[in-house]
Amino acid sequence: MKIPENLIQKYNIPVPRYTSYPPANYFQENFGSEKYIKAIEQSNHEWPENISLYIHIPFCSKMCHFCGCNTQYTRDKAKMGRYVEAVKKEIKMVKKLLDPNRKVSQVHWGGGTPNTLPIEMIRGIMDLIHENFEFIEKPEIAIECHPAMLDESYTGQLVLAGFNRFSLGIQDFKQEVLDNVNRDAPNVPVKEIISWIRSFENTAVNLDFIYGLPFQNEKSFAETIENAVEISPDRLVTFSYAHVPWIKKAQKILEVRGLPEANEKLTMFESGFKILTENGYTPIGLDHFAKDTDDLSIALKNRNLHRNFQGYCTRETTGQVYAFGSTGISQLESVYAQNEKKPEKYVEIINKNQFTIEKGYHLNIEEKIIRHVINEIMCNEYVSFKETAEKFNTSKKEIKNVLHFDKKMFRSFVEDQLLKIDGEENFQLTGTGRFFIRNIAAQFDPNLQKETKRFSKAL
Ligand SMILES: C[S@@+](CC[C@H](N)C(=O)[O-])C[C@H]1O[C@@H](n2cnc3c(N)ncnc32)[C@H](O)[C@@H]1O
Ligand code: SF4
Repeated sequence: MKIPENLIQKYNIPVPRYTSYPPANYFQENFGSEKYIKAIEQSNHEWPENISLYIHIPFCSKMCHFCGCNTQYTRDKAKMGRYVEAVKKEIKMVKKLLDPNRKVSQVHWGGGTPNTLPIEMIRGIMDLIHENFEFIEKPEIAIECHPAMLDESYTGQLVLAGFNRFSLGIQDFKQEVLDNVNRDAPNVPVKEIISWIRSFENTAVNLDFIYGLPFQNEKSFAETIENAVEISPDRLVTFSYAHVPWIKKAQKILEVRGLPEANEKLTMFESGFKILTENGYTPIGLDHFAKDTDDLSIALKNRNLHRNFQGYCTRETTGQVYAFGSTGISQLESVYAQNEKKPEKYVEIINKNQFTIEKGYHLNIEEKIIRHVINEIMCNEYVSFKETAEKFNTSKKEIKNVLHFDKKMFRSFVEDQLLKIDGEENFQLTGTGRFFIRNIAAQFDPNLQKETKRFSKAL
């Protein structure tokens, strides 16, 4: 699989990633906790009815040089304990405001490295959630784990605490690559870790990989992905390494170690894509892959895939997201709200029984329409103005007005066979169109017409 060179030249330009609409750099500073309280109360009357809980753990016991996550180095258990108690307090504060009839469909622990916490601390939070909330029948309860810090007993206890989806950060199987980014390899083969998880019923495994690191090349990355296919995870992500040394200073060292050229990086992506699609994985968006039989692949076929900051989800597991912990972003139907970034300050504010909202955004109806259209194209590779108009109880004309729709803006995508448009109202991405999904989504974003902000490139 090769992406045509002329299309790369033409479309590999800076565009938003659209993990949210509007993107997080539009969130406003003057959005305080009072607005958040009102937003939670309002969310009780809004769709989706289900609740997603996101728990952020901002700690790692060793720092990878490539890391772009919101985390810090610590091995201090007392500090972790104070943080965990604050998270529990925040959960109780939110619970008081929520409609008790609403059920949890998804819990996601991210970070940092949630499995740096002693198991009792994780269990403490999970027990509190189970005591306070009702769950839907088959909720997804996921945790991001560093595999070098998992042993069989700890992994089993995570399952007993309720986790049924494990996301393991592999990054690369090559020791040389890991050594040069200051990352420990797992102590046992990843296959064995997966067998511990799969020895329990109804558990699933995701693996994360990154391409674009020093000492990676097309051949080495292809071998890594071939190894991954052999292990047969349910889902897999190949992240393009985001190099932002002006924000993450530690990344500068990777320039000295030698970052691969843009062309080499692209060939790594192409090889990974080819291997995965030839081995029974469905591509989801640009960089996610799920076994053809996985719920996500089925949801894509049925055009009911959704997405939040934590990744893709099906209609069953989609909920409004209530986030806990430093930097956590709540994603309610009408509001985004982000918590204080520094863990110490977060603990201090929560201990005064106050929310710690640092930034937020209230969406009006027009922005909700734009968000819906962008999400449809990003998740389901398809959007229909007729269906969108029905959903928002309005006319197709109004949808076009809101989007500042002008068919001319899509002409080059149609000519380059990246997009099919049927009767000015049904948009379907082609196979190659997927690689430029962010560029196509951007055409539906009226903000981009007056854009001045800084984004990463499309590929
Ligand atoms: C919170 S970490 C996963 C859990 C655990 N901390 C670990 O590293 O195994 C989330 C994922 O983000 C990805 N990631 C981190 N920094 C990145 C960067 N600069 N560019 C692209 N992906 C990155 C990695 O693949 C990582 O697995
Ligand atoms: S990649 Fe994971 S383990 Fe490494 S520093 Fe970032 S969050 Fe921590």
